[in-house]
Amino acid sequence: MKIKHLIVAAVAVVALAGCSQPKDYGWIKVAVDRATVQLLQTAEEIGDTPMIPRSIWAGYDPAMLEKQLEKDFDTFKDSLRKKAAPELLGKRRLAGVYDWTSGFYPGSLWYVYEFTGNEAVKEAAVKFTNLLFPVSHYTQTHDLGFMINCSYGNAHRLMPCDTIPEVLVRTADNLCSRFNKEIGCIRSWDFGAWNFPVIIDNMMNLDLLFAASKITGNPYYGQVAVIHANTTMENHFREDVTSYHVVSYNPDGSVECKQTYQGKADDSAWARGQAWGVYGYTAAYRETGDKRYLDHAVKIADMIMSRVTTEDAIPYWDYHAPEGEDTPRDASAAAVTACGLLELSTFVEGGKKYYNYAEKILKSLSSDAYLAAEGTNEGFVLMHSTGSLPHGSEVDVPLNYADYYYLEGLQRYMALEGIKYADL
Ligand code: GLY
Repeated sequence: MKIKHLIVAAVAVVALAGCSQPKDYGWIKVAVDRATVQLLQTAEEIGDTPMIPRSIWAGYDPAMLEKQLEKDFDTFKDSLRKKAAPELLGKRRLAGVYDWTSGFYPGSLWYVYEFTGNEAVKEAAVKFTNLLFPVSHYTQTHDLGFMINCSYGNAHRLMPCDTIPEVLVRTADNLCSRFNKEIGCIRSWDFGAWNFPVIIDNMMNLDLLFAASKITGNPYYGQVAVIHANTTMENHFREDVTSYHVVSYNPDGSVECKQTYQGKADDSAWARGQAWGVYGYTAAYRETGDKRYLDHAVKIADMIMSRVTTEDAIPYWDYHAPEGEDTPRDASAAAVTACGLLELSTFVEGGKKYYNYAEKILKSLSSDAYLAAEGTNEGFVLMHSTGSLPHGSEVDVPLNYADYYYLEGLQRYMALEGIKYADL
């Protein structure tokens, strides 16, 4: 064989070896082990206090907020949340069961139980899920899907028992009680001066309705979800496929206003809102098979992938925030996006690009830059999320929903890779 041919053959062998190189999943084992320790430590420290870990108390720097919002402090100072008492700063922030985030910690425990089969984790998952039982009688928010589907919904999946379907269906009934058929949406909030506010986040509550239709055989719940998804698709999205955070409606169904609450400006793209959108429309396609939802999810996914400019794919808190080292990231938005893209990758031809992007997000979140060291971070798994910067609330802190969607993302990724924690 001539030298030239030998070189070509050698290159081919190296390339082939590269292709068949087994993937290294060590980072997943580290992540799951870390989450197990962190979540169990949290359960132990909370003990029998009927509260849920939400985040860490943090203050805010007015100059930083001014820079991020590109507004004078006086123009937004009245919207700021009350500052935490100095002795609370850096400590775990707990929330009651009616807080919108109450389902995420129990849900995270369920995911870790699913990975590991750890009995102590299961015990904690059952205990914190049961705490949320009264929420199934609550009607005063749209967040019921987050609260009950992430907790009881995962319990139903992993440890079904007779009493859970009733909890899910009652909650779905309460969510439907917020549906207005003239408007074609589920009302999000009961506070504020809006006539009928609907936020993009509300797409995340639809899974509970689809679940209720499956449990009862009654199509009504799913029909409400579909009408809500259609109205939201029509009014929440701009030409460039970014979404408004809040759309409020008049009683006749016309739009009252389009605004933001947690984003930088009414016409900005709040990072987590974009993530709720891609997750929500992918799920709506999964449940209905309606191609319009799939096409919409693809457009949102492409928009996210072209608009997020950070090297590690963890977005700044708002796509219109000034770019730079000191601009807070939102790990929660990245985690939600990873979940949505992994699912989307299974529905479309050429889905590999969504899969690869989601994998990149999960690896970034699993790096030391975001994954908390054992025994730190007040027991939360991830660092560097942003709750509501315009309110000076939870800026650059851990958030229980970042942890939840990170673990869900790992679960989806492992299922698609065909790997089990026990084999790592
Ligand atoms: N659903 C509220 C938020 O995403 O912050």
